[in-house]
Amino acid sequence: MCGIVGFTGRRQACPILLDGLEHLEYRGYDSAGIAISDGNKDHPLHIRRVKGRLRALREMTHDGQTEQGSSGIGHTRWATHGEPTVENAHPHVSGEGRVAVVHNGIIENYQDLRVTLEKRGYVFQSQTDTETVAHLLDYYYKGDAVDAIMRTVMHLRGSFALGILFQDRPGEVWGVRRDSPLIAATSDDGAFIASDVPAILPYTRNVCYLNNMEIVHLTEDGAEFFNMDGEHIDKDFQQVQWDVEAAEKGGYAHFMLKEIHEQPKAMQDTIHPHIRDGRIVLDELGMSDEEIRAVRRIQMVACGSAWHVCMTARYVMEQMAGLPVDVDLASEFRYRNPVLEEGTLLMVVSQSGETADSLAALRYGKDHGMRTLAIVNVMGSSIAREADRVFYTSAGPEIAVATTKAYSTQLAACYMLAMHFAIVRGTMSEEDYSRHVTALLALPHQIEQLLGCENRMQWLAGKYANSRDAFFIGRGLDYASVLEGALKLKEISYIHAEAYAAGELKHGTISLIEKGSMVLAVATQKELLEKEVSNIVEVKSRGATMLGLTMEGNYAMEDQVDFTIYVPRTEDCFYPSLVVIPLQLLAYYVSLARGIDVDKPRNLAKSVTVE
Ligand code: M6R
Repeated sequence: MCGIVGFTGRRQACPILLDGLEHLEYRGYDSAGIAISDGNKDHPLHIRRVKGRLRALREMTHDGQTEQGSSGIGHTRWATHGEPTVENAHPHVSGEGRVAVVHNGIIENYQDLRVTLEKRGYVFQSQTDTETVAHLLDYYYKGDAVDAIMRTVMHLRGSFALGILFQDRPGEVWGVRRDSPLIAATSDDGAFIASDVPAILPYTRNVCYLNNMEIVHLTEDGAEFFNMDGEHIDKDFQQVQWDVEAAEKGGYAHFMLKEIHEQPKAMQDTIHPHIRDGRIVLDELGMSDEEIRAVRRIQMVACGSAWHVCMTARYVMEQMAGLPVDVDLASEFRYRNPVLEEGTLLMVVSQSGETADSLAALRYGKDHGMRTLAIVNVMGSSIAREADRVFYTSAGPEIAVATTKAYSTQLAACYMLAMHFAIVRGTMSEEDYSRHVTALLALPHQIEQLLGCENRMQWLAGKYANSRDAFFIGRGLDYASVLEGALKLKEISYIHAEAYAAGELKHGTISLIEKGSMVLAVATQKELLEKEVSNIVEVKSRGATMLGLTMEGNYAMEDQVDFTIYVPRTEDCFYPSLVVIPLQLLAYYVSLARGIDVDKPRNLAKSVTVE
C-alpha cells in the first residue's frame, strides 16, 4: 500500500530514490513522485510527479539526471483517496513548497482536518487525505521540525508512515510512523528511510525498525530518533541477512515465476532447522509444554491467501491435536465482537506482518486477554513485534503481489505446530508422528519434482486463457486448496474464478454450469474420493470441461475428467503443499497468455497496510 523512500547524503539523491522506488513498486504502482532539495534553502523544492508506473518518472527525469540535489523523498502510490492522477500523486506540498510529504497509510479524519485547514486559508490541490498532513506541517512549523511533526501527528487519526522535507532545512529528511511500516538505514554515503528493506539493500544492510510514534531525523552523518515528548531516544540497528539478489528476478521473466521455483528451498529453510533427530523442535517459539496443554481452543485470523492457510490448518490441527479451531477473516473478526473463551490461543498468519486488519485482530485479541502466536515472514514487522510468540517462516523476500512461497512456508509452519501440539498433548501416536515427520521432510523434494509439470501447465493455460469463468471444487482439505487456486487465478488473470466445497454445488452453484464451463477438481483425500467423484460426474454431465488434480495412483480419475494432473503421494494432510504448485503455475501461465503484468496486477498491492 504505497512505498516511501528518502535519502540524504554525499551522493545525488534522485537516482537513489528511483532505485529505491523500483524495489517498492510492488506496494503500489498507480503513480509516482519525488521531491528533491538542491541544497539551497532559498530555492523551492523540486517536485516531479507522474501518473502510472515508475518508468514514466524515470523518463521525465532522464533516469534521475535532471534533478540535482543530495536529499529527497519519493513515493509510489496505491490509490485510496482520489483517482490515480498527477494531482493526487505524492509528494504533496504546502506553503508554496516550504514542506513536502510522502505518505503510506490512511488519515481517517482527513475530511474534518480539511475543513479546519480551509478555514485557515489553505487551498487544496488534490483529493487525497495526505495533503492535509502537508498543510498541518506547514501550519505548525515555526523552525522546529520535531515540534511541528509532534503537533501534526497528534491531530491524525488512522495510519501513516511519512517522509518529510522542509525547504529551509537542506540536507535533512524526516520520518515518522504509526501502524504503517518505516525503516531507517545508514551507510558511509548517508542515511535512508523506506517502507521496506529491499529499497535500501543495494546501499546498506544496517537497518533500524521504527516503532509507532517515533520520529527519525536523517542527515548525511546518520540517523537520530525522537519520541513524542521530543526527547532523543537510542535505537538498535540490525544487519539484514539476505542478499540483494534475493529481491531481484535472477533471470526469470517475473518475480512470481522465480518465487514459484524458490519453493523447494523456502520449504527446506522453514522445515529443516526445526527437525532434530526425527523430532520437531520449536524452542525459538518459547512455548512450554504446560502452555501448549493449557490451550483449549484456537482462533485463527488472517487475510487473503494467509486465510486459506488457516482454513487448511483448521483441518490439520483439529485432526492431529484434537483442538477446536475457528477461522476468521481478520477484517470480520475485529468488528464482530467475538466471544473469546479463556484458554483460547489467537493465531495470526501474515507474510508481511503489516496487514492492517490482521494487526488490528492481533491487538483486539491481546486487549481481550488472549495469548497470541504469529506466523510471519518479515522479521521485525509489526505483527512479529506485537505477538507473544512468533514462528518465522523462511521464505525470503516475496515481491510478486500473488503469494506463492510465503503461502507454502506458512503451510509448513502450521503442519509443524499441529504435529508438535499433537505430540505434547498426547493426541498422536509415536508411529504416526514419525511417519508424518518423514513425509514433511520429503515435501521440498516432492515440490521440486512437481515443478517438472510446468510445460504441461503452460499448455493447459493456453487452452483456458480465454475462459470467462472458472470453478474450483474440492472436499475437506481439498476445499481449502481450491480456495487458494481460485484466488491465484482471479487475482492475476482477471478471470472470474470461484471455489466451492464440492458437496455444496447442488445447493445452488450447479445452475451456473453449462457446456464448456471450466471446472477444476482437486481430489486427494482418500476418505472423500468417492464422494468427490460423484460431484465430478454431476458437473461433467452438465457439459463442463473438467480438469482433475489428484495423487499418483488414483488413475480412475482419468475416466471422469478431460485432463488429469498427478501429484506425488504423501500423507493426506500434506497434499495442500503439493496441489498448490500446479495451481500456481496454471494461474501464472494464464496471466501471461492474457498479456497481464503478472507481478503487478491491476488494483492490487503486495502489502495491505490500510483497512
Ligand atoms: O502479508 P499478508 O500475508 O498478511 O497478506 C495477506 C493477503 O493480502 C495476501 O495473501 C493476498 O491475498 C495475496 N495477494 C494473495 O496472493
